[in-house]
Amino acid sequence: MADISFRKVVKKFGEVGVVHDFSLDVADREFIVFLGPSGCGKSTLLRMLAGLENISSGEIAIGGRVVNDLTPRERDVAMVFQNYALYPHMSVYGNIAFGLKRMKIAKAEIDRRVHAAAATLGLEPFLDRKSTALSGGQQQRVAIARAIVKTPGVFLFDEPLSNLDAKLRNHMRVEIARLHQRLSTTTVYVTHDQLEAMTLADRIVLLRDGVIQQVGTPREIFERPRSQFVAAFIGTPAMNFIDVDLHTPAGITIDRTRFELEGRSTVVAGIRPAHFRPAQPQETSNLVEGTVDLIEFLGNEALISLQYAGVELGILVPAGQCPAVGDRIRMTFDPENLHVFDRQSGASLRRSDAERSRAVA
Ligand SMILES: Nc1ncnc2c1ncn2[C@@H]1O[C@H](COP(=O)(O)OP(=O)(O)OP(=O)(O)O)[C@@H](O)[C@H]1O
Ligand SMILES: [Mg+2]
Repeated sequence: MADISFRKVVKKFGEVGVVHDFSLDVADREFIVFLGPSGCGKSTLLRMLAGLENISSGEIAIGGRVVNDLTPRERDVAMVFQNYALYPHMSVYGNIAFGLKRMKIAKAEIDRRVHAAAATLGLEPFLDRKSTALSGGQQQRVAIARAIVKTPGVFLFDEPLSNLDAKLRNHMRVEIARLHQRLSTTTVYVTHDQLEAMTLADRIVLLRDGVIQQVGTPREIFERPRSQFVAAFIGTPAMNFIDVDLHTPAGITIDRTRFELEGRSTVVAGIRPAHFRPAQPQETSNLVEGTVDLIEFLGNEALISLQYAGVELGILVPAGQCPAVGDRIRMTFDPENLHVFDRQSGASLRRSDAERSRAVA
């Protein structure tokens, strides 16, 4: 078993706090992604988990055992870094076997594990090659192989794909997903790429300035963002935000049974670009009308820019139904796709299902 638990973990560098009261339980075999903007503390958390950085206060446990005072080697974790730095003078085989040799494992067992890892990652044809004679993606796979031969209880990845070009990154993302399917090793993966997070994670931990903003499945976070920050961070193209004056509602209707509007005069409405659809001639609610001022062709879809209520809205349409620049369009959206946030705190005003039935009653 390699479940992980963080209990009120704090990290300070001198006087500066970079991780604040971080508590999280990761289940055995779970794939957890730490996601957030640059500097929010993702790598620091991972390094504390690996034992490469000490903890200012709090507790980290792996498999039920508190590891605060254990060395990295004693923690049964293997880490893959962004700069994976292979040994250039060694063969691929030598690179993969290196950690095991240091662990004084029998030669036959090392050989078995290296071949198994190489097979898993499609590296068998390259075992005798110098690691410098490999493509970036192949080198990255060697770095991952080097981690999996140790058969650790926990895999830690810190932006392992960020040095690769877009195509290789997509390919390696799939490889990592397959690897997790096959090995089911508890994994903590750090990235600032929301697409990577959405596609790989069982659960995403979204961080900002060392504080958890939301923990949930990719779907929960996408469909029920707890704040405007989360809503803006997840989803491409990004969610649109429109200030709505509740006293003079111009166009957008906000349902008081679904959202907590009490005591507020202005709120922020959020609508994802993909959630707009053309309005029928007889439709009059939630109308967004304007003149198309820019079109970005994306392949199957096009992203239209439109000035509305003083903001630039992004609207995704099927490429085949794309209007022309200068066209006047009438769009709408279904009420269940509307998000509403507090203007000051950014908190979502969505009522829970229980609150909703009370509000309706
Ligand atoms: N050794 C250090 N001494 C002082 N401050 C540090 C140290 N290491 C990191 N920090 C600070 O801690 C904060 C979190 O850094 P961290 O590397 O964990 O961010 P990150 O989320 O991994 O960012 P990125 O996406 O850019 O890698 C940053 O403000 C950083 O400047
Ligand atoms: Mg980092």
